[in-house]
Amino acid sequence: MPVASVSRIAVLPSAVADQIAAGEVVERPASVVKELIENALDADATAIDLAIEEGGRQLIRVSDNGCGMSRDDAVLSLERHATSKIRTAHDLVGIRSFGFRGEALAAICSVSQLEVETAPEDGAGTLVRAAGGAVLDISDAARRRGTTVKVARLFYNAPARLKFLRGARSEWRAVLDVVGAMALTRRDVRVTLSHDRKAILTLPAAPLLRDRLAAIYGPAFAGRLLDVDDVSGTTHVAGLVERPADVGTATRRVFISVNQRAVRDQGLLRAAEAAYRSTIPSGVRPTLFLEIVVAADMVDVNVHPAKAEVRFRDRWNVERAVETAVRRALGTFDAGAMFGRPAWLPAAAPAERVAPVVDIETLTAPMAPVDDGLFEVTDAVVETESEVDAPVAPERSAADVPPLTQLHRTYIMFEHDQGVVLIDQHSAHERVLYERFLRTLEGGEQPGQRLLFPMTLHLGPAEAEAFEEHRTLFERLGFEIEGFGGHTLLVRAVPMPHPRFDAERCVRDTLAALTGDRDSGAHARHERLAATIACKAAIKAGDALAPGEMQALFVALRDTTLPAHDVHGRATIVHLTWEEIERRFGRR
Ligand SMILES: Nc1ncnc2c1ncn2[C@@H]1O[C@H](COP(=O)(O)OP(=O)(O)OP(=O)(O)O)[C@@H](O)[C@H]1O
Ligand SMILES: [Mg+2]
Repeated sequence: MPVASVSRIAVLPSAVADQIAAGEVVERPASVVKELIENALDADATAIDLAIEEGGRQLIRVSDNGCGMSRDDAVLSLERHATSKIRTAHDLVGIRSFGFRGEALAAICSVSQLEVETAPEDGAGTLVRAAGGAVLDISDAARRRGTTVKVARLFYNAPARLKFLRGARSEWRAVLDVVGAMALTRRDVRVTLSHDRKAILTLPAAPLLRDRLAAIYGPAFAGRLLDVDDVSGTTHVAGLVERPADVGTATRRVFISVNQRAVRDQGLLRAAEAAYRSTIPSGVRPTLFLEIVVAADMVDVNVHPAKAEVRFRDRWNVERAVETAVRRALGTFDAGAMFGRPAWLPAAAPAERVAPVVDIETLTAPMAPVDDGLFEVTDAVVETESEVDAPVAPERSAADVPPLTQLHRTYIMFEHDQGVVLIDQHSAHERVLYERFLRTLEGGEQPGQRLLFPMTLHLGPAEAEAFEEHRTLFERLGFEIEGFGGHTLLVRAVPMPHPRFDAERCVRDTLAALTGDRDSGAHARHERLAATIACKAAIKAGDALAPGEMQALFVALRDTTLPAHDVHGRATIVHLTWEEIERRFGRR
């Protein structure tokens, strides 16, 4: 027998449905602020004033000088699915406005006490008061063009949701994040923000990101950041990022926008951070402000209800573009810091440069006579360069190497028009070798130098295992190694980055460092191997260098992507400006 004839299913009253829907749009005061700001921007406002009380729990007031609304529209705007921004599903494709759901005001209204005061260009002003989703009254209002939305006592009628709000402080911080993100993306808009009647931000319109950042965080902070500006294919990446040397010294701040929308996208963030690899110690993360612009049809920003995530048609390429752009910014800074002449870095991608001036192949080719210098800088090398039909900047040759002096058998010193530069010879060589080894490991092979008498190496079991694991990589680098029964290896050829290279030590130390390195991905493994071998293979502090060797190292270093940093994130180059020196002597 049926238990009851009453239906268990009923269509919810619309007020209840609105409240449930509101859960998706309105999570906390910050989400209200975000929606109201977006509405103001969609209305083409050029000035937005925000007043917040008690972290937004008590009051959120957003005033704009945008297009405003007629009386009818003002009333309609509080209804669900009421929007002026799209008419058909077709309009969603390539949509440029923030809003399109017609959801936000209705949702906010259903859980607060709301007032909308608005006036169109030359029309009468209107004040609509509502609470808990119901319009209370509509009256005339005298105001100039624009709209003010006042949201009081958020969640006053939804105690369960109210319970989930944090304290005023915490909510205020979230509001500040939202306003900050907007202020950075829309620098054409004048913004003021107050909290509990105290002015917090007064930001005039400022076309440059650096100027806006200076207005928000202070000029000292903004002044230290490096410019990013790079185009790969159809992706434009611009912004400001922290110098490697500053990373970890102050509060980390991250902001990423895609087509002028602030997004939280882990993939893009990881790509940007990857650019810092080998310039900062692991575990610290850089401050980043990046603005990414892609063709409108390459991106869908509307997948997330709060519109914070993006979906790219070709995510891989966008991430590569971000990494390359940041890497290049760090590299340009390096070159500038090193030589005081960023112009030396050609506009062409450093990563794509085809012919390093001193090529490891030339140096280690089996038949090439080993020069008694570390590197060869001869006409032959320059010829190799011109044979390769690559856009190598004409001034990038050994000819414009300044006179170099070795100090303390450890540093290479030279002067240029802006000061004195000291290069740590070991770190510099390490950087040069690291980048070359990595290139070789990632694709390619280089011939080794055959040894007259093969070298026998006895390994422990863990080392032998590490060797088997990485055998092909060693071979790519120019090692020719045979098993010789048990844990004994016979080394027949070795790479020869310089005549003093101690191949045996290098193999042993590298294997020791690699034992247990099993589960990292291929790229990470390549990086570790390249870094370890580079460290072992590089010339040491205390090695006397001939003038030709210093020259070759200088030229090779200048060709790396990150000359001013060694592989461990320490400085390779120290630059003393004339000003600094003059200051020390009391001349200034
Ligand atoms: N500050 C404003 N200035 C002018 N018109 C506004 C303003 N705020 C809202 N409106 C009007 O009210 C309508 C409803 O706003 P609401 O935010 O609820 O929806 P939406 O912006 O269209 O879409 P979404 O729910 O995605 O934000 C808008 O389409 C717009 O026409
Ligand atoms: Mg909206």
